[in-house]
Amino acid sequence: MNILVIGDVVGDSGTRKLCEELSGLKEKYAVDFCIVNGENACSGNGITRNKAEQILDAGADVITLGNHTFRQKEAVHLLANNERVIRPLNFPKGTPGRGAVILEKCGKKIAVLNAQGRVYMDAMDCPFTAVENALERIKADIIFVDFHAEATSEKVSMGYFLDGKVTAVFGTHTHVQTADAKILSRGTGYITDVGMTGPYHSCLGVKKEIPLNRFIHCMPERFEFADGPAQLSGALFVVDDETNRTKEILPILMVPEQK
Ligand SMILES: [Fe+2]
Ligand SMILES: [Fe+2]
Repeated sequence: MNILVIGDVVGDSGTRKLCEELSGLKEKYAVDFCIVNGENACSGNGITRNKAEQILDAGADVITLGNHTFRQKEAVHLLANNERVIRPLNFPKGTPGRGAVILEKCGKKIAVLNAQGRVYMDAMDCPFTAVENALERIKADIIFVDFHAEATSEKVSMGYFLDGKVTAVFGTHTHVQTADAKILSRGTGYITDVGMTGPYHSCLGVKKEIPLNRFIHCMPERFEFADGPAQLSGALFVVDDETNRTKEILPILMVPEQK
């Protein structure tokens, strides 16, 4: 089974790029199941029902989120009404939405979990305990975990924590694809970050002048997503039909034509 993961979709240009490319990618790689991180799909971050529908209609099976989950007010309603849109499961008890979903595809039960890191990020419940507790309840053939986190050390640690317990752990949030895709020693597929789907000439999706000014002058300035051509970033996980383990990981990075 081939499972495609696409990294953080940023703004209109990222959504457009995903919609343009996803059906072709699914055909090219014979994709059976697709997970998209959509936490930055709206300008101003977060996700709305409209954006979620665009991403699902484009061919995603599940949308994962992150620290910007509730940036748009309507996310509360979206998360309550669409089980295919999930948020980190280590938000405090009582927070709207779900942190995991199980869907059936090609005769397999596929679980997708979303968790968020705590290093250089907002305070959250422990992601390690939260995932461990969730896994006690989840019965599925294939389990994918989107670990939305900043620090590479925390992400690598989550990979080893879940090695042999899940099919794959992939990172999101940093918007830069890492060159460390590998199969861990107990068979779990792992990549620290699958990267961003959004404006190519930008600072992680944001107009490059804005963070640059912030770094140079140390003055606050509101972030705005960049315009222009977009890249698409993700990874294909080839899962063994017998063992449900990851056999191979193929990082994908589609960049605009260079002039
Ligand atoms: Fe994030
Ligand atoms: Fe993001």
